[in-house]
Amino acid sequence: MEETSKAINSRRRTLRDSLGLGRMSLPVGLTDRLEHMKAIDKVVLPVAKAIRRKLPSGSPIRDMLHGVPTGHPLHPPLATISLGCFTATAVLDLIDVDPRATRAVLATGIAGAIPAAAAGITDWSVLHLEQQRVGFVHALVNIAALGLYSGSLALRMSGRHQAGRALAFAGLSAAGLGGYLGGHLAYRMAAGPSHAEQTTHLVPLGWHDLCRLWDLPDGRPVSRRLGYINLFVLRHGAQVKVLTDRCSHLAGPLHQGRLQLENDEACVVCPWHGSTFRLEDGAVVHGPATAPQPSFEVNVRGDGIVQVRPRQA
Ligand code: FES
Repeated sequence: MEETSKAINSRRRTLRDSLGLGRMSLPVGLTDRLEHMKAIDKVVLPVAKAIRRKLPSGSPIRDMLHGVPTGHPLHPPLATISLGCFTATAVLDLIDVDPRATRAVLATGIAGAIPAAAAGITDWSVLHLEQQRVGFVHALVNIAALGLYSGSLALRMSGRHQAGRALAFAGLSAAGLGGYLGGHLAYRMAAGPSHAEQTTHLVPLGWHDLCRLWDLPDGRPVSRRLGYINLFVLRHGAQVKVLTDRCSHLAGPLHQGRLQLENDEACVVCPWHGSTFRLEDGAVVHGPATAPQPSFEVNVRGDGIVQVRPRQA
């Protein structure tokens, strides 16, 4: 018994060493390597650029696909609908119910994959290159899964149920791999969650001295340090607007962004991917960000010291 486990461990070590993964766990190690797979950049970069050109920054359809109106990325909940239907198809296949019910569930999963893919590629087009490499393989695997499920539905419609079931189980394997890569993107590479959320945990409630009013340039945003975080600070005369400097999309430096008016309201546009935030309260005006930028209330003391405190929801 002990001999067998030694042999298994030795084979694992040999496999890891041959893949250059050291002591990393196997699936994550392989996915980590995808992040650095420069060979696919020749395809990834032009495809991402073409999508950005088709869906220009600030267009209503792009904002909708990112999930700006819902305040969360749209892709994960849409993908969950398809994955749920595909899993239900496998269960229904195993318990041998009316084939029409299974076909209906399968067709729902296939139909749901189309908006999920549209939202996914929109988000993907404005990620970091390492994230785009993993996302590209995630998309290819999911396209393969969709092809298998579409073939399965066609076979079932023509009465070839056994072949349709076999194809659906192959599709489930591909969809599972696609889901794993999606999880790697979301949880290990932080594509999707807010990158500014930690502000509320790093800045205690109450007023904090920031700087002197007249040390701030007029009309030009600057970055100022408050404890553990950087703040975006903009002075107009005696008025000061303050937001967290790390963009909630992917942590771009907002103080290097462009100022512009949107519906007569002053906004800042992130220099990395064009997320637009209202200066008054950090609300998202345009994506890809879906989470608001934490904002601060400002008090200028009589001696010119600018004080800030986190704005309460
Ligand atoms: S980091 Fe992507 S829009 Fe700001």
